[in-house]
Amino acid sequence: MHKAYGSLRAVDGVDFDVQAGSLTALIGPNGAGKTTTFDLIAGAQTCDRGDIVFDGHSLRGLPSFKVFHHGLARTFQVPRPFAQMTVLENLLIAPINQLGEHFQANWWAFSRVREQERALHERARSVLELCALADKAALLAGQLSGGQQKLLELARVLMVDPKMILLDEPAAGVNPTLLDTLMDRVQLLNARGITFLLIEHNMDLVMRVCSHVIVMAQGRLLAQGTPEQIQEDPRVLDAYLGGVPV
Ligand SMILES: Nc1ncnc2c1ncn2[C@@H]1O[C@H](COP(=O)(O)OP(=O)(O)O)[C@@H](O)[C@H]1O
Ligand SMILES: [Mg+2]
Repeated sequence: MHKAYGSLRAVDGVDFDVQAGSLTALIGPNGAGKTTTFDLIAGAQTCDRGDIVFDGHSLRGLPSFKVFHHGLARTFQVPRPFAQMTVLENLLIAPINQLGEHFQANWWAFSRVREQERALHERARSVLELCALADKAALLAGQLSGGQQKLLELARVLMVDPKMILLDEPAAGVNPTLLDTLMDRVQLLNARGITFLLIEHNMDLVMRVCSHVIVMAQGRLLAQGTPEQIQEDPRVLDAYLGGVPV
């Protein structure tokens, strides 16, 4: 796929596969085009050329809520919770938010049914439990630490049973204890069958949890392989680590 911003080729002929059920990393120096790649996959931006095929369906040109309908969800590099709502409320509105404005009226009509509301609450409670946020349910999302907000981002996408989750820099700014919790949950969800593609700078983490690594630099695909292969690839060391061995 290709995406240019004016004369800048942010994503320049990048082509890769993500194995269903895998936990795959997307790495590369700042400005490599990783977030833009996520934007293209998730429908926040449209490719100038190329296609994205997910589960046998072309996602090209689909808006993000339709991509989400196919079971593909994403989190943002900078968490975007509704700061003035509680953690629980952020989860309760997650399905509506992801469905897109178009569907909101229907969803509200739907959610007025008491049974559905109860099911939604139950799901939110179990997702909060899973994401180690159960005791934070009544706090305003804006009161959470950066790390807890990353967990909330994950929790929000889990409200709607995605098949695949794109995680943009889940570890950035997260303290080691919370990071362990976050990665533990990611691995658990992966074991349950959810495919993950994660943008990550923490190489130790990538080496520890990922089965496959894709490397981008300057808008292009530079290399891909197992963590071991990537660690030993001199091109990756040059581009990503500035020649400093890991
Ligand atoms: N909306 C945009 N408009 C113009 N340039 C952008 C936009 N988004 C990203 N870029 C540029 O595209 C390049 C790739 O950015 P990005 O995908 O965010 O890289 P990464 O996530 O790998 O750090 C950068 O040079 C960035 O400045
Ligand atoms: Mg980025």
